[in-house]
Amino acid sequence: GIDHRINRLIDEMTLDEKIGQLVQLYPEGDQLTDELRARIRGGLIGSVFFAGEASLAEDAQREASASRLGIPLIIARDVVHGFRTIMPIPLGQAATWNPELVRDAARLSALEAKAEGVDWTFAPMVDVCRDPRWGRVAETLGEDPRLASDLAAAMVDGFQLERDGKIHGVAACVKHFAAYGLSEGGRDYNRVSLSEYDLFNTYLPPFRAALDAGCLGLMTTFSEVNGVPGTAHDDLINGVAKGAWRFDGVVVSDWASVTEMVNHGFVPDNRAAARAAVNAGVDMDMCSPAYADHLKGLVAEGQVSERRIDDAVRRVLRMKVALQGGATGQPAPTAESRQAARRLARQSMVLLKNKGVLPLDEESLATVAVIGPMADKPVDQLGCWSLDADAEHSITPLAHLRKRLEGQAEVVYAAGAESSFAKSDDGIMAALAAARQADAVLLFVGEEVVLSGEARSRAELSLPGVQPRLVEEMAALDKPIVMVVMAGRPLAIEREAEAVDAVLYAWHPGSMAGPAIADLLFGVHVPSGRLPITFPRSVGQVPLYYARHNTGRPAPEDYAPLVGSGAEDLPQEFQYRSHYVDKPPTPLYPFGFGLSYTTFEYDSIELSHNELPPSGVLGVRARLTNTGDREAAEIAQLYLRDRVASVVRPVRQLHDHRRVTLKPGESVVLEFAVAADELGFVNNQRDHVIEPGEFDVWVGGDSNATLHAEFRLLEGEGPSAEVAS
Ligand code: IFM
Repeated sequence: GIDHRINRLIDEMTLDEKIGQLVQLYPEGDQLTDELRARIRGGLIGSVFFAGEASLAEDAQREASASRLGIPLIIARDVVHGFRTIMPIPLGQAATWNPELVRDAARLSALEAKAEGVDWTFAPMVDVCRDPRWGRVAETLGEDPRLASDLAAAMVDGFQLERDGKIHGVAACVKHFAAYGLSEGGRDYNRVSLSEYDLFNTYLPPFRAALDAGCLGLMTTFSEVNGVPGTAHDDLINGVAKGAWRFDGVVVSDWASVTEMVNHGFVPDNRAAARAAVNAGVDMDMCSPAYADHLKGLVAEGQVSERRIDDAVRRVLRMKVALQGGATGQPAPTAESRQAARRLARQSMVLLKNKGVLPLDEESLATVAVIGPMADKPVDQLGCWSLDADAEHSITPLAHLRKRLEGQAEVVYAAGAESSFAKSDDGIMAALAAARQADAVLLFVGEEVVLSGEARSRAELSLPGVQPRLVEEMAALDKPIVMVVMAGRPLAIEREAEAVDAVLYAWHPGSMAGPAIADLLFGVHVPSGRLPITFPRSVGQVPLYYARHNTGRPAPEDYAPLVGSGAEDLPQEFQYRSHYVDKPPTPLYPFGFGLSYTTFEYDSIELSHNELPPSGVLGVRARLTNTGDREAAEIAQLYLRDRVASVVRPVRQLHDHRRVTLKPGESVVLEFAVAADELGFVNNQRDHVIEPGEFDVWVGGDSNATLHAEFRLLEGEGPSAEVAS
């Protein structure tokens, strides 16, 4: 078999050639340097980055095939949400709650990348994130482990297109192991400190889901996790991923994260860093000199075993074998990928407010004002990690509206501000003048791409720059104002949302932003995106998430903050409660929330059991009706609560979700299944336990769903309890 062939090859390799397979480099410049060319030809490099040019990747592969053993390179690239055609940022994709579309977008991105020689993408990123200050929240699949798991598995499937052990797309690499999304203060690369309980119940499940879906790669995190850098985390890598989960793919460091362990204060030098990383289970060293410079000496000294080196090489070669013989990709941009980008962008956008102005009647408009710094930013609308984007094919809202309304309505445009973060109010007068002429104002605000993504953390969550002023001045005009927010994170837009008539949250929608937004504003399609992350009212509430734990002193439901209330002191019943005195405890918009152009109602919940045996499966049924007058899609959500447990459980947790399209007046009976063993959790001893007792069930359209039922899980022998590690 394949393993036998790989073992024979390993037997033929020198130690230098073996170590070479574990080295990944970025080829700087537009051509291979002589030095890199010689190293590749010497069989001393395992993988190089795709650096923008297919010809360079081809050249590198030619050198590799001329090496003694002719082992190909793995050409790696961050194909995160598109290659030439850019799909919405992952956080936007998560707002579709639609694994099929997400899978298809990954498939198309993989084929575009593969056509230019890319073999391996560093995606999906599955770091659960509950802190919108973190710039990389844009790359995540949101705050919820269940939603992130479902979408991560779909992405892996779509990227890899695996059939019979062959990768017909590109190999995937789930990252960043683990809990990177918990960077303290939302500041990138910062310390991560968390309980075992949170690690196993919240942060690890999406990694498990991606690996169970066959993901071939796993990337470590830059950050330290409870005092140990992710890149030397023996417990996480060897213990959990390779041990308990039996992951047999490649563990790669993050960029220079091996040598950065010196800065962390975890090792004294690069040599010790190489030893710590390789012995903790990191197979490939991304863009640091540590493995190339030190592994040989470490083996000679017996500090790293040759067995361990062979194991790492075997993993790399297995990926190489899986990549051989797959189908070739397809050049970009194809009509198919652009259509997929438009559909996905449409489904990603979340309607947060609509005081009866949307959809706009395209035909009755004589003049439309397009205002705002985000209306015509072909690159910024793509979002972070759009390294290889074909920005000339990016359609902005302004460009699309001009074309779409040509001969029908006049489009007047004023940016109002040079950029989202510009402070000058010089543009506001012109914007007001433009808006005064119009029947409706489309106001495009948000954040340029430089404000989100890696190392782009923010200490504020407000609309940056002069934009709050711009919104305020527009809202003071007596015009219908639709605010479209393009941003890489949830923004605290309470005042602005209050002031305008409608809010559409568009994230960074990608190449097809303009058409997708117009499809929704004009009602050709109905918004169906739902928030994959809680929107706070202010940065001070962060972290704010729906699956919170109750305190011993929860705030009463009707709690009203003292500050601004005019009262001198908190009423007695609000004293010594868990709340802020200057803000409500509630979010601006809850997880799962999103409006439609129709309305939906849930009723008639029924459970198959009032008492569920420990090996049973609970059936949950509820009726969903489209009570409005538009055919539209709803995301039905099922939440559970374990009322009393040996470790405190969240007040509710998403268990399942379903996308359903209904005609006006149409009803459907939703059916969900909850197996008793899914009611368990990992306790502080790392045991997966299922505890009997009372559970709540809710079905509805967001995390505040009120349609409720309850059941009891009975005591007894359940299915074999799985041990977490
Ligand atoms: O994949 C990325 C990672 O997410 C952050 N550091 C660099 C890697 C490769 O580009």
